[in-house]
Amino acid sequence: MIYKNYGNIISNEPIIKNFVYLMIIKEKNIANTARPGQFIEIKTGLIPLLRKPISIFEVDKEKETISILYQVKGQGTKNLSELTANEKLDIIGPLGQGFTIKKFAKKCLLIGGGIGIAPLYDLGLKLKEAGNEIEIILGFSCKETSYAIDYFSKLGPVKIATIDGSLGELGTVEVILEKYNFKDIDKAYACGPEPMLKYLKTLEDEIDLELSLEAYMGCGVGACLSCVCKMTDGEYKRVCKEGPIFQVKEVSFDE
Ligand SMILES: Cc1cc2nc3c(=O)[nH]c(=O)nc-3n(C[C@H](O)[C@H](O)[C@H](O)COP(=O)(O)OP(=O)(O)OC[C@H]3O[C@@H](n4cnc5c(N)ncnc54)[C@H](O)[C@@H]3O)c2cc1C
Ligand code: FES
Repeated sequence: MIYKNYGNIISNEPIIKNFVYLMIIKEKNIANTARPGQFIEIKTGLIPLLRKPISIFEVDKEKETISILYQVKGQGTKNLSELTANEKLDIIGPLGQGFTIKKFAKKCLLIGGGIGIAPLYDLGLKLKEAGNEIEIILGFSCKETSYAIDYFSKLGPVKIATIDGSLGELGTVEVILEKYNFKDIDKAYACGPEPMLKYLKTLEDEIDLELSLEAYMGCGVGACLSCVCKMTDGEYKRVCKEGPIFQVKEVSFDE
């Protein structure tokens, strides 16, 4: 079931000012039904008119809240960053399909690049609840723009790569994955920039991997087709409806 409601903003704090924010919203229907990997569509002001898709970062069913971790990119997310506690937020959700969650025989691996880490935290919590051991690889541009590592450290060991080498390994998550021993891993999950996902596609015969895809979205509920992406069988699927979670083998990054 999809809900359209006004959530009450509990807090909206910068993790890095003018860059990344964590907002907690009280909205009981979405908190009670959301699964890791699903997202909400938020009305971010009159201009732009369209809603913005943002992943659910964490759910607290007891407090009936959801939180979102978002990066300020343009006017919509800037408007979001200026909202304060007790303001109302027009949201629709939970939308899309979630990640697979079950007990795996071996470990699970979470791979996040930049703000692509957002849908992976709640996933990690639920995988842990299901009895899984988790390892995490995160990539950022530099130490100053790295965030939420403390959250992921609660889930399991975290390896970091930064483009300038100021934190963790020098380079992208690729440098860590190139020498990674996938034999201990049953299932991997990833979200991040397209070059990272394209690299992960080259590993599709080595790891069972689910990707969370991004796309430009209009309606967010399957009606406008603005978010379609190409599958390996030549068909197109809607990221907002059949996705955003896809098996890596399903997705084609060919133009
Ligand atoms: C399923 C899904 C989940 C998402 N989850 C999150 C999240 O948890 N946290 C978060 O910070 N962001 C997330 N995003 C991205 C977020 O929706 C966009 O950053 C936001 O819509 C930008 O809106 P804006 O008005 O601030 O910027 P705009 O003015 O709309 O755009 C600013 C810049 O960002 C680029 N951009 C905008 N939307 C996208 C997109 N979908 N893909 C690639 N580039 C884009 C534009 O080309 C432009 O360069 C998600 C996107 C999708 C599809
Ligand atoms: S955003 Fe309209 S169909 Fe996906």
